[in-house]
Amino acid sequence: MPVTAIVGAQWGDEGKGKVVDTLANHADVVVRYNGGNNAGHTIQNQHGTFRLHLLPSGIFHPAAQCVIGPGVVVNPDVLLGEIAEVERAGISTQGRLWLSDRAHLIFPHHILTDELEEAARGGKPHGTTKQGIWPSYSDKVARIGIRLGDFAEEAHLAEQLRFIAERKSALFEGVYHHEAIDAGNLLAACARWSERLRPYIIDTHPLVQEALRADRMVLLEGQLGVMRDLDWGLYPYVTSSTTLPGGASSGAGIPPYKITRILGVAKAYTTAVGSGPMPTELVDATGDRIRELGQEFGATTRRSRRCGWFDGVAARFAAEVAGFTHLAVMKLDIFDTFDTIRIGAAYRLGERTLHTVPHTAAMARVEPVYEDLPGWRCATSGARRLTDLPVAARMFLRRIEEIVSVPIAMIGVGPERSDVIFCQEGWA
Ligand code: GDP
Ligand code: IMO
Ligand code: MG
Repeated sequence: MPVTAIVGAQWGDEGKGKVVDTLANHADVVVRYNGGNNAGHTIQNQHGTFRLHLLPSGIFHPAAQCVIGPGVVVNPDVLLGEIAEVERAGISTQGRLWLSDRAHLIFPHHILTDELEEAARGGKPHGTTKQGIWPSYSDKVARIGIRLGDFAEEAHLAEQLRFIAERKSALFEGVYHHEAIDAGNLLAACARWSERLRPYIIDTHPLVQEALRADRMVLLEGQLGVMRDLDWGLYPYVTSSTTLPGGASSGAGIPPYKITRILGVAKAYTTAVGSGPMPTELVDATGDRIRELGQEFGATTRRSRRCGWFDGVAARFAAEVAGFTHLAVMKLDIFDTFDTIRIGAAYRLGERTLHTVPHTAAMARVEPVYEDLPGWRCATSGARRLTDLPVAARMFLRRIEEIVSVPIAMIGVGPERSDVIFCQEGWA
């Protein structure tokens, strides 16, 4: 059975949640491997509409074991709220949601640090989600992070929290002119979280290994996209985790060679939230039209997403560094009323033509070289096979395949679980 990594091929919000919810029909295990509640994975199915921030998007399939892996940073209050939300919709999480005892915590002071540092940048913020993602990963790398498994080690936890409170207080009082961090409050929060999350916290390693040994179907659910990967994204306008399948391997605890399929998820156009270069961005009526038709407003922050044409250079670059074996192209239906659709096929940088993503500063200066393709001007949402699509839509998809050099396995034609076309063996 395949082990499939689902990886964002653009700037995030490509439709990964929908893809995982759709594929999880046959999955035994679904693992979130990176990021935290900066994610907003929207799912529309028979249970309703959900914007999941931490729960794996396989949660709506009762047979799927759902794992939050060691690579994720966990805000317990957000997670508890989300568990309550899906339970209210009749979805049981008991005995099938598992949190790695190796996953790190996000504390309120991480969120505050994120907010204060963004504010300190004045008119030039990075545009983070202000969920405390980088401060938590930063403590993890500095080796002063607290992990879910530490809840069970009370003496160690109390000692660590005292040290953290002392060091952070110096920062908060001295740099931010903010009140000190109280170790007692941190300890009390941990006690509260521990009590409610205890049934879910385990060493997830045996569960994942057993799934591999028994040749079960495993899905690895990515957060964000390659253009915001810490190493390969447009630094510093990136997140603080690895969005690539390498992150799926380490963040879930699966040897790289066991990942048999890597599905890059892209939209038929490009969106981004937050700052940094986005060569195909449209700051005009066409951009507004895509935003309105695609309802491109952030699932986590409700910010308007920046919209533009499909960036073939960025998607091809993503395919190269992430090693996509297949591509999912979502939201094809958003172009149903367009006369002409553009694809960015290369970049111009001064006299040079580029087919790869350069350093961030140069990326801010590139001009896309567009190809114009005819629109199809009819509804695609009812299509369930490739041959149901109009010829112009197939030509558009064919051109994306050529530019990205990866076969398309899945096409999104609407927000519902069933609004999908599978076009390769072994994916339906
Ligand atoms: P994610 O973060 O990658 O899971 O993506 P988001 O959930 O943030 O954003 C994708 C949005 O597009 C959500 O509102 C989905 O419901 C919606 N969506 C996904 N696939 C399709 C599609 O094929 N057509 C349409 N119209 N909407 C889609
Ligand atoms: P999903 O999983 C879109 C963006 C932020 C900011 C940058 C860093 O739904 O695709 P962070 O809070 O991670 O430090 O912010 O990354 N960002 C996202 N953009 N979708 C997301 O998640 C995002 N998570 C973070 O806007 O530019
Ligand atoms: Mg999202």
